[in-house]
Amino acid sequence: MPDKVTTRTLIRWKQEGRRIVSVTAYDYPTARLADEVGIDVVLVGDSVGNTMLGYATTLPVTLDEMEHHLRAVRRGIQRALLVVDMPFLTYGVSVPDAVYNAGRLMQAGAEAVKLEGATEPVLQSIRAMVDIGIPVMAHLGLTPQSIHKFGGYLVQGRTEQAAEALFQAAQAVQEAGAFSLVLELIPTALAQRITESLTIPTIGIGAGPHCDGQIQVLHDIIGLSEQTYKHAKRYAEVAQQIRNALQQYAQEVRDGTFPTEEHSFR
Ligand code: KIV
Repeated sequence: MPDKVTTRTLIRWKQEGRRIVSVTAYDYPTARLADEVGIDVVLVGDSVGNTMLGYATTLPVTLDEMEHHLRAVRRGIQRALLVVDMPFLTYGVSVPDAVYNAGRLMQAGAEAVKLEGATEPVLQSIRAMVDIGIPVMAHLGLTPQSIHKFGGYLVQGRTEQAAEALFQAAQAVQEAGAFSLVLELIPTALAQRITESLTIPTIGIGAGPHCDGQIQVLHDIIGLSEQTYKHAKRYAEVAQQIRNALQQYAQEVRDGTFPTEEHSFR
C-alpha cells in the first residue's frame, strides 16, 4: 500500500508544490472507492445533512449522526487522511465541550476534525484541541453552518474590508495551530493571497486554482446532487444511471423477463 497520508504529509506537499486532492464520503462503499483511487484526504462532511439525510442545510446534523457516518467511512479507508466535520453547536460555545466532542469523533476513527470560522471560542478550541493531540482543519469563507447569517450561498470576501477580515482570520487559525485550511466560495485572487501567506496548506472549493489542494462534495461531482453548482464539475451522471437501472429492473419484473434460468436455482 502507498504511504499513509498524515497531517505532516500535507504540510510537506505544500512545500514541494504537490497538489492535495480531497473529496467527501459518507459511507463505506464510496470511502473504499475514494481510497482505492488515491484520494489524499477524505472528509466526512456535515454536508451529509444535505446529500444523505435530506435536510435543507447542515444545521440539523447531530454529533451522533456524524459519528454513525464516520464509523462507516473509517472501515473503507486505509491510505487517505480521514477528517470529520464537527457539526453545528458541538463547538464554538464552550471550549471544554468542544474538546470533548472532538475527542468522541477521534475515538470513532477520525484522524482530524474540521471547524468552521475563526471566532474567539473557535480559536480557543483549536488551541485546546491541538494541545491534547487533536489535529484541526480550519474552514473559512462561505461556512455553511452560518448560512442564515450570510443570507444564502454567496461568495464571501468580495469587498476590500471583507477580504482583509478573511485574510486576518486565515492568519489567526494558522497561529492557533490548525494544520490546514479549507477556503470556500471566495475570489480567486484572495485565495491566492491567503495561500501564499500561509505555511499550512489551503484546500479550496470555489476558491480558484491557486489553493494547495481542492475539495469537492462527492455527490456534486458524480451527478447525485439535485442541484448543479458553478464551483463543481460533474464527472459522471450517477443519478441517471440509477434511474435507468431501476426502470429497466421494474420493466423486466413486470414483463416477466427477470428472473431467468440464469438467476434461478434447480
Ligand atoms: O461538509 C462539507 O462537505 C464541507 C466541504 C464543502 C468542504 O465542509
